[in-house]
Amino acid sequence: MNDAGAPAFKAAAWSAVGRARPHESATLHVLGQATYTDDIAETAGTLHAALGLSAKPHANILGIDLAPVRAARGVVSVLTVKDIPGTNDCGPIIHDDPILADGKVEYVGQPIFIVVADTHDNARRAARLAKVEYEELPAILTPQEAHAAKSYVVPPMRLARGDAETAFANAPHKVAGKLYVGGQEQFYLEGQIAYAIPGEDNGMLVQCSTQHPSEMQHVVAHALGLHSHHVVVECRRMGGGFGGKESQSALWAAAAAIAAAKLKRPVKLRADRDDDMLVTGKRHCFYYEYEVGYDASGRILAAKVDMVSRAGFSADLSGPVATRAVCHYDNAYYLSDVDIRAACGKTNTQSNTAFRGFGGPQGAIAMEYVLDEIARNLQVDALDIRKINFYGKTERNVTPYGQAVVDNVIHELVAELETSSEYRARRAAIAAFNAGSPVLKKGLALTPVKFGIAFNVTHLNQAGALVHVYVDGSIMVNHGGTEMGQGINTKVMQVVAHELGVDMDHVRATATNTSKVANTSATAASTGADLNGKAAQDAARQIRERLAAFAANEYGGEVADVRFAADTVFVNGMEVPFPALVQKAYLARVQLWSDGFYATPGLSWDAKTMNGRPFSYFAYGAAVSEVVVDTLTGEWKLLRADALYDAGNSLNPAIDIGQVEGAFIQGMGWLTTEELWWNPGGKLMTHAPSTYKIPGVSDCPQDFRVRLFENRNVEDSIHRSKAVGEPPLLLPFSVFFAIRDAISSVGGHSVNPPLNAPATSEEILDAIAFVEAAAARRA
Ligand code: MTE
Ligand code: MOS
Repeated sequence: MNDAGAPAFKAAAWSAVGRARPHESATLHVLGQATYTDDIAETAGTLHAALGLSAKPHANILGIDLAPVRAARGVVSVLTVKDIPGTNDCGPIIHDDPILADGKVEYVGQPIFIVVADTHDNARRAARLAKVEYEELPAILTPQEAHAAKSYVVPPMRLARGDAETAFANAPHKVAGKLYVGGQEQFYLEGQIAYAIPGEDNGMLVQCSTQHPSEMQHVVAHALGLHSHHVVVECRRMGGGFGGKESQSALWAAAAAIAAAKLKRPVKLRADRDDDMLVTGKRHCFYYEYEVGYDASGRILAAKVDMVSRAGFSADLSGPVATRAVCHYDNAYYLSDVDIRAACGKTNTQSNTAFRGFGGPQGAIAMEYVLDEIARNLQVDALDIRKINFYGKTERNVTPYGQAVVDNVIHELVAELETSSEYRARRAAIAAFNAGSPVLKKGLALTPVKFGIAFNVTHLNQAGALVHVYVDGSIMVNHGGTEMGQGINTKVMQVVAHELGVDMDHVRATATNTSKVANTSATAASTGADLNGKAAQDAARQIRERLAAFAANEYGGEVADVRFAADTVFVNGMEVPFPALVQKAYLARVQLWSDGFYATPGLSWDAKTMNGRPFSYFAYGAAVSEVVVDTLTGEWKLLRADALYDAGNSLNPAIDIGQVEGAFIQGMGWLTTEELWWNPGGKLMTHAPSTYKIPGVSDCPQDFRVRLFENRNVEDSIHRSKAVGEPPLLLPFSVFFAIRDAISSVGGHSVNPPLNAPATSEEILDAIAFVEAAAARRA
């Protein structure tokens, strides 16, 4: 019997997914009632820790005088590397990442010791009193220096297809150049924090702000010389993670746990903003040298790029970040003959890490930069150059790493945006404006995104969940993903609610906890809702199937005809309230809870050849940005931005649009105002909002039109939705290239402005000066 044929089935159109619902914690957020790690009621006897940091970028430690620290007010204990009972390492993949410096320091800000005191302030004051004697060693600060010295944290990688060398040599047109794209601080509003509470028999509970509770569990267990089952890590929510709490939360979790284990008292370690920025890794800056050959129509015939990132002093996630950069150099474009080299420069700086996009943005922007140059060289609108290089639908559709692009919607998505944004008319209007405006110059750009969804490393693509239906009909879900504001809990609650046919208000999500779901992957690579949504669906479906069997047995009719919708169970022409059925099922001893599991099918990846099918599917998007630049000051403003994003069958359009807006502004900050600057002594001088400029609300465009592109996922993802967390971070490439377009208008679009990111006002003025000089020489 189909749905329409079911006599009492009035809820055929009912759905808990695909609906705009507020974030499950929205009310708590605005009332200040959402519990973050620092809000958890402190256990009696809690002590507070701070870290003593290196003042040198590279040095042997000849001696440390900790007596003044120990003598400071409120200090209970000072711990150094000797106090670590297990392994002194918090590296996520490669074990080159000391928790506390052992005889040498490798960056300014590296933790050397832990001070534990009665209060947070006393710990911080005391931490500054140590006298460290250093023997300075030569330091490498930039990726270029590291590349020249062949100083790497992991072996360099290369992905080549075809014969780029010959194709380049034979190409009728060529561009070659260099580009530098700066890093970015995650600037989560809630800083790094860990609260370690020792328990009986070597037990350790660590409440911390982390995207990766299982990894924290492993690191803490190793540092304490214990097994994983001794350690429980819990996180209800983060005040933002953005990749910065994937691996970088480990140091804080481990340090708090080491102190708590030693002192047998609860210890809280909360970084203040300056320490957080000095100690932790950020988005990798990249330096590129490229050579691209193309034909008279602007189609790319050969692409060669050599990129090197600033990995920092240890490997952290630099290898995987570079891999994703390599796999996103193509962005939305077919590259027949291509040679991509990537290296992770070992530098005496913070160990760089995940940040929204995870190298993808850094790979793709290098290609966009080239297309922008080709367009100017050929005097063709950059949108047209982009279009003729797009992946084809059935041919020219295999990525350099060998995955066929079978879900390509970039043509229709861009066409829709081109129309809705009135791209061509505005291009003409801007040209007219610029012709009559000597100082203020406008610019316009449309840039596309294609972003691969899944962890490149196949085994990470798994997730687990637990669903409990209580006797009163209320439902609890627990899964391995972590909530960082992105709305994973809201989506997972919707999925569970949908499966059991109840409103999501009847479902509650609880803190991520390693003692509930084991062996979880980081909530990262935008896969959180994809993986955990499927796992939770699996759990909920098992309960539903048991309930359906019970209902048919109890009320008659076919099991297959039992429907769960609108808080009601429709069975054999009857309507039974969900809680009533649950109550009966409990009395009949039906199991009302279940675990669930999911592993993304069809993935493969060979790290050596950099080939395979690393991604489950691709998410697409595009944006048009219009800016106005003051050519005398280098100041600029984003006047209007139109973004169109493919979230598949969106699980929750309200959450998804919020993700696109947030990612857009965050990416705009990366490419324009957020400048990381280390002084010649290797100290990061932009370590607070006073010197590091993230976008404010006034930097958001007055006219901001964000829409979702209707597009059912061809892959069997959770309700055919698509991931949304990271890909929209690439949409504000359009802002960067609109600024470049405005600058280029100064020279009548005859000269390619050299523009590195971030395009700060200084950078913009330098580019304008270059263009003016070059145009003058030509005239
Ligand atoms: N959104 C908010 N509000 N806060 C965050 O920290 N992190 C981003 C993105 N969106 C983040 C966010 C990053 S880096 C990733 S990988 C994804 O969310 C992770 O969540 P998801 O996989 O559930 O989308
Ligand atoms: Mo996101 S950078 O994968 O945490």
